[in-house]
Amino acid sequence: MDSKADNGGKGTLCGSGSERTRVRDKVVVRRLTNSDSLRELTALIHDAYSELGRMNLHYLATTQDETTTRRRIDGGECWVAEAEGVLVGTILFHPPVRAGGGWYGRADVATFCQFAVAPSAQGAGIGTLLLETVERRATEMGVSELACDTATRAKHLVRMYRRRGYRCVACISWPNTNYYSIILSKSVGVRPRTQPAAARLLERVRFYCSMMTTMGVRRADGKARWWARVLKRLKSSVWE
Ligand SMILES: CC(C)(COP(=O)(O)OP(=O)(O)OC[C@H]1O[C@@H](n2cnc3c(N)ncnc32)[C@H](O)[C@@H]1OP(=O)(O)O)[C@@H](O)C(=O)NCCC(=O)NCCS
Repeated sequence: MDSKADNGGKGTLCGSGSERTRVRDKVVVRRLTNSDSLRELTALIHDAYSELGRMNLHYLATTQDETTTRRRIDGGECWVAEAEGVLVGTILFHPPVRAGGGWYGRADVATFCQFAVAPSAQGAGIGTLLLETVERRATEMGVSELACDTATRAKHLVRMYRRRGYRCVACISWPNTNYYSIILSKSVGVRPRTQPAAARLLERVRFYCSMMTTMGVRRADGKARWWARVLKRLKSSVWE
């Protein structure tokens, strides 16, 4: 990890506290429109995620091309932060998918991803504005949880989400990455739920079980471990 990563993985800050407040005051958060440039958006995403790339974390956002950006934003609501006509941040919100298993398949869980602020504008509160936007959208949609995932090794990000009230709920191994991810989720809504101590403990136990199962069965690149493949073959030959 380099010194920036030690410093919370952040890029260049916008100078003094008052300078940062001024940057935030100039920012407008709005939906992406057809007149916005996908090239500019993709370049912004690359710039922001480059720090994670230098930490050897292969997030899709470190290398995605414009076609991938288009495909990703077509599936959700893309929000951008603009300052004086320039895109300085973005976040992609998804309503519940209500399909598949696990935390992301739940009908009451909305998600977000592709969360990026230009390195020169980081630390000015723009990321917070974008997070507030998707948390508001989740509340408007009537879901009870808003979730995202990030690399277990990106400890500064896990800490940032936890400070904002996100809980570690599951572990997952995506294909085409080189890390395990933690799913973090926050109770949202008009009256966010406060969990009783027993429920918190149970959720923690579930999280560690999910971590052990995921890491036991899959490699960081999402592929099943050899013994899991053998077991699967055995199972199908016995049942078929
Ligand atoms: C994560 C990211 C979107 C946050 O955007 P931002 O505009 O810097 O966020 P903010 O200024 O609102 O600050 C958010 C948090 O980071 C902290 N932070 C800001 N600058 C920091 C720095 N230089 N060092 C350490 N922490 C810092 C803030 O204190 C704040 O924490 P808090 O909510 O507990 O107060 C931005 O840093 C980024 O694009 N990072 C690279 C891409 C990435 O990591 N995306 C998320 C993948 S899951």
